[in-house]
Amino acid sequence: EKGGYATFMEKEIHDQPHAVADTLLGRTDADGRLVLDEMSISEEQLKAVDRITIVACGTAAYAGMVAKYAIEHWTRIPVEVALAHEFRYCDPIVNERTLVVSISQSGETMDTLMAVKHARELGAITVSVCNTHGSTIPRESDAVLYTHAGPEIAVASTKAFLAQITACYVLGLYLAQLRGGSFADDAQSVMKELAQVPGKIETLLGRMDRVKEIAGFMADTRSVLFLGRHVGYPVAMEGALKLKELAYIHAEGFAAGELKHGPIALIEPGQPVFVVVPSPTSEHGLHGKVVSNIQEIRARGARTLVIAEEGDEAVEPFADEVIRVPATSPLLAPLLTVVPLQVFALWLSTAKGLDVDQPRNLAKSVTVE
Ligand code: F6R
Repeated sequence: EKGGYATFMEKEIHDQPHAVADTLLGRTDADGRLVLDEMSISEEQLKAVDRITIVACGTAAYAGMVAKYAIEHWTRIPVEVALAHEFRYCDPIVNERTLVVSISQSGETMDTLMAVKHARELGAITVSVCNTHGSTIPRESDAVLYTHAGPEIAVASTKAFLAQITACYVLGLYLAQLRGGSFADDAQSVMKELAQVPGKIETLLGRMDRVKEIAGFMADTRSVLFLGRHVGYPVAMEGALKLKELAYIHAEGFAAGELKHGPIALIEPGQPVFVVVPSPTSEHGLHGKVVSNIQEIRARGARTLVIAEEGDEAVEPFADEVIRVPATSPLLAPLLTVVPLQVFALWLSTAKGLDVDQPRNLAKSVTVE
């Protein structure tokens, strides 16, 4: 059942190319246009949407943060990400033109369910991005977009995260196509690029030996920091969450731009810092800015573990380790850059002799508020 792997988590990390490919399957027609047969909401209603609120918890909320960048870019509809347990209590601004997208692997997370119910009471249109057929949240929603990651057994979420991000891309591209804005014509080319991603994840998984080795030497580490920018920012937070859950190590993810506003004070000689570097093709010169951040922390003694695109030579002088990911367009990069962070957490937990699949104090689905 673990497919020859020692743990479900390792198996599920290796399932990820399929999780992405299967979530894309059947969502385009012969011409490459997006079709969402399961979207049981009228096109008129979807065209009238003027605001999107994503509600989710934990890893699913980080998928939502990635989705925000992509959906806003493609549709120009404002997207807000709310932690589901905060949403209900913050007098949310929601009406019949608001699309409330919940993201949940289990479909049973009580906080997320209550947020969806609250949104419906306020008149919102609700769509559930969910991995579990017949679960409660899809039943309580107007429509469902299933992620096809297959059952996720390990408590820490991996393949469901990639499938959630993929489904949100599909939703964003569908809305862009439907509304016919300036981006509508590009939706098909993004879908083509997305179709290449599973093969790239496979390639990446084939090069994780060094990450395993690095983790194996870090069993005594007490703190690890993660930096990222733009879509790399939620990836950094997800990397930190995996490490907290699995290795019980203090870990924090920051937006790299925040560094000089405080967190840089944490840097002392030997402090390990993962840096998720944006693609050199990113807009607004973000790549160069993050390379400068690596330089700044390195000068203060940080041990820099850099995740960078193949061929990005600019990071070399300041990196203690470079982990290479295949190139893709900047908005799609999280499907690749998060993988080494999952692998790192898996092997650090293993190096500490901990239970990878059943970390202490956690349950697979949190059905109480
Ligand atoms: C992290 C993790 C949790 C879940 C969160 C939401 O590895 O598994 O943070 O992502 O509890 O769960 P679902 O997606 O089932 O609503």
